Amino acid sequence: MQNDDYTYIEKQDKEIYNALVGEEERERKGIEMIPSENYVSRAVREANGSVLTNKYAEGYPGKRYYGGQMYTDVVEQIAIDRAKELFNCAYANVQPLSGAPANMAMYFALLEPGDTVLGMHLEHGGHLTHGHPTTSINKVFNFVRYQMKDVETGEIDYDELRRVAHEHKPKIILAGFSAYSRELDYAKFVEIAKEVGAYTVADMAHIAGLIAGGAARNPFDDGFDVITTTTHKTLRGPRGGMILVREDADIAKRINKTVFPGTQGGPHMNNIAAKAVAFHEALQPAFKEYAVQVLKNAKAMEAVFKDADIRMLCGGTSNHLILADVYGSLGLSGKEAEAVLDAVGITVNKNMIAGEVRSALDPSGIRFGTPAMTTRGMKEVQATKIAELMVETLRKDGRAQEEIKKELEELCEAFPVPDTFV
Ligand SMILES: Cc1ncc(COP(=O)(O)O)c(C=O)c1O
Repeated sequence: MQNDDYTYIEKQDKEIYNALVGEEERERKGIEMIPSENYVSRAVREANGSVLTNKYAEGYPGKRYYGGQMYTDVVEQIAIDRAKELFNCAYANVQPLSGAPANMAMYFALLEPGDTVLGMHLEHGGHLTHGHPTTSINKVFNFVRYQMKDVETGEIDYDELRRVAHEHKPKIILAGFSAYSRELDYAKFVEIAKEVGAYTVADMAHIAGLIAGGAARNPFDDGFDVITTTTHKTLRGPRGGMILVREDADIAKRINKTVFPGTQGGPHMNNIAAKAVAFHEALQPAFKEYAVQVLKNAKAMEAVFKDADIRMLCGGTSNHLILADVYGSLGLSGKEAEAVLDAVGITVNKNMIAGEVRSALDPSGIRFGTPAMTTRGMKEVQATKIAELMVETLRKDGRAQEEIKKELEELCEAFPVPDTFV
């Protein structure tokens, strides 16, 4: 990663300049293993930092509330067209500011207050925006849950899902997760949704890049109605959200209305330009190789954790992430594990696990994944090495932290974050 050009910030705002330079160094020298993070290209950062941040563009291409839209319309239409091509669908709204606002707009487009959503149990991998009691959306809609039948294999309890669907008659059956490491049976979701007259929505925030790269199944291929996603995780774009509609023009119209003016104001056009640039990158053949390598690297890490007898939820992984029960296996809490790994330059996050016996702030698990390290060009050899260093650090019975840290820094130096992917 070449240093960004901070000439003006350096001159006028030393405090922010120092923090930016520090963050660049942190990202360069450490191994980023948080599965929802990635490194974007220089081109994506250029678009995100462009003059389009100056422009108001309320509305949609060809239908705006302000003048001067000759370039914003071009940018947004290109982003829409590329998104449709990437995910093989008829409609795309690229304006959601992030994953949570995308879900909020999707709920309001498809539901009336008081309606029911059937989503993944939060302790079993579902996301906060799928109706966590602490979120505002929970005051408006009613959330009921499905979960895994067997936490050691990750198999979803589809019989229970069907039973709850028939009992509660949800308007939406929601697939998607932020801490679950197996593939879902989308066809089964569609089958059950048809029985009760529900929409099928997939929140693919985590695995959008795997789908775009052909390394994970596209829920649209099994007949899902809507996909919501972030653009900044495996998809390797700027921080942002997006809503895709397979084919229904009426749903697409409602989605557009609830994004703007329903729940948002002016779109962040700089961010939409950056999404367009990232989608172009994701349409290149090299992105397919990237997506496949993300999975291979996760498998290589799984093998090391298995050998070390560290329990993994779902028994391992079929995607980009692993959820390890460090408390159950090593007597180390998630918070302690996060801290010792941080000290050697490996960034992971503490995470609740199914059947959690501890608290949300200091749970039993850690969650880690391979999207960012794979962007650096690392393959199975390096994934295995990182997993071994993680185990050595967690067990605290090997070399001193300083030695492990040095080895990791050398690895990072050998695999600099690339500036470009095309
Ligand atoms: C499945 C899922 N949905 C939604 C979100 C929310 O995205 P954001 O943090 O961009 O609002 C996340 C983020 O972690 C996620 O994993």
